[in-house]
Amino acid sequence: MGVILAIASRKGGCAKTSAAVTLAGVWAEEGKRVLVVDVDSQGSASRWLGVDDDGGELLAALVDGAELPSVATNIEGVELAPSGVRMANLDRALASTPGAEFVLREALEKVKGFDVIIVDCPPSLGASTVAALTAAQWVASPVAGAMSLDGLEEIRDLVALIRRRLNPALKWAGVFLAQGDPRTRLTRDIAALLAKTLPDDLLSSSVRSSVRMREAPSRRSWIGAYDPRGGVHRDYERVANELAERMTA
Ligand SMILES: Nc1ncnc2c1ncn2[C@@H]1O[C@H](COP(=O)(O)OP(=O)(O)OP(=O)(O)O)[C@@H](O)[C@H]1O
Ligand SMILES: [Mg+2]
Repeated sequence: MGVILAIASRKGGCAKTSAAVTLAGVWAEEGKRVLVVDVDSQGSASRWLGVDDDGGELLAALVDGAELPSVATNIEGVELAPSGVRMANLDRALASTPGAEFVLREALEKVKGFDVIIVDCPPSLGASTVAALTAAQWVASPVAGAMSLDGLEEIRDLVALIRRRLNPALKWAGVFLAQGDPRTRLTRDIAALLAKTLPDDLLSSSVRSSVRMREAPSRRSWIGAYDPRGGVHRDYERVANELAERMTA
């Protein structure tokens, strides 16, 4: 079992899936063996990685203790535990299960052969995000614009609670600006606010906004293949390095 990094935020559309897919690609390019676990019933990471799935197998792994599914993706070196609509039943299926928070941790304990496991969470703090934070050693939150900030306080407080009650090993890998223009005043204001909310965990690297990145999910192509020489690919390489450094510290 490798290092487990959850990508989480209460805020929708703040680039969680973009970060999960792109970090997976960057680390795979470096020769790491990467598993992406898509616990979002929207299945966005799965589709972006070229896999259509109903999430039934993942649901069974989490609810009945079946083996975690793992399939090849459109990025060499990246495997996927795919999600889909059936994962929307997770909260209900786990409602009367004692220790429901630990289902993903248990499923991942049996998984071997990966250097990094990235868990892409939905924009809610329900059962799958709680299970991801209980399984992970590290959590990262992308922030895209001023609207992401309220979601950030909620995830910060949830991380603190989970660390206290369920997973003392959980630490912040980092918070980073995932869609911004560093020249604008708004971006600078957000960075300043972020530095206040999580003073020790704001990365110095950030990701610029790009039309190519906006197009990439519907092309089902990660940015390292769709726009390998573009700025976003380079930005994510820096973010990946900074996260990796913090995760080995
Ligand atoms: N650097 C960027 N520049 C431009 N667009 C971006 C960038 N990063 C992400 N996006 C776009 O923002 C949109 C939302 O991204 P994404 O799906 O990763 O967010 P999310 O937090 O996973 O959403 P959800 O909360 O629904 O899971 C996507 O269309 C994506 O292509
Ligand atoms: Mg997403």
